[in-house]
Amino acid sequence: MPDSTVQPPSFDAAFSARLRELIFWRRDVRRFRRDPVAAELIDELIGLAVLAPSVGHSQPWRFVLVEDPARRSAVRDSFRRCNREALEDYHGERAGLYARLKLSGLEDAPVQLAIFCDEATEAGHGLGRKTMPETLRYSVVTAVHTLWLAARARGLGVGWVSILEPDQIARGLEVPGDWALIAYLCIGYPEEEHADPELERGGWEDRRDLSGCVLRR
Ligand SMILES: Cc1cc2nc3c(=O)[nH]c(=O)nc-3n(C[C@H](O)[C@H](O)[C@H](O)COP(=O)(O)O)c2cc1C
Repeated sequence: MPDSTVQPPSFDAAFSARLRELIFWRRDVRRFRRDPVAAELIDELIGLAVLAPSVGHSQPWRFVLVEDPARRSAVRDSFRRCNREALEDYHGERAGLYARLKLSGLEDAPVQLAIFCDEATEAGHGLGRKTMPETLRYSVVTAVHTLWLAARARGLGVGWVSILEPDQIARGLEVPGDWALIAYLCIGYPEEEHADPELERGGWEDRRDLSGCVLRR
């Protein structure tokens, strides 16, 4: 933990430029090398993720490292089922595009991390979530993104898999009933680097510019 009595660091222009590069090059990764990732590095990333903001300082994130081959296999089965069903919703050219996309790195990623929201936590004493209870889950997403960037800064890639049955995953991992699945992450060293998202390269969706995203009232 940093000493809060020391002077804060100054983030200079060079750091800011590097941070921009980190954000620009983050990427969702689906193609992983099978090389192992040091356990200490994963611990470090989780240690950074929990510095993320959370509503009422509730810190509702819960991390499950999925290591057991049988449990991993059950996650892959869930992905295959959901992916097959998703494909059935598309038709014609869109179905062809979908079928060609690689939408998970579950086969190769050496580290798999399920991140849950503990919806029963009393930490934070309800502050900030009376009218927006969903902010508890949003808090977990902030931790996911913190981990994502921290991993990228250490040369690791992260892929978020949501084409899953959340209740099945929670049951398979035997977590408490009040934990809701927020993210299932594949983590490892990437096989390739790209400046543009896979879904852009695959012709699925282009990056939108800011027009229409920012309003003034
Ligand atoms: C909540 C969330 C769920 C996602 N689920 C999946 C998924 O199931 N499979 C997948 O291939 N990518 C998934 N992604 C990654 C997005 O497809 C990706 O972020 C987007 O295409 C932009 O690419 P980039 O992250 O490389 O910039 C998910 C991303 C988010 C934020």
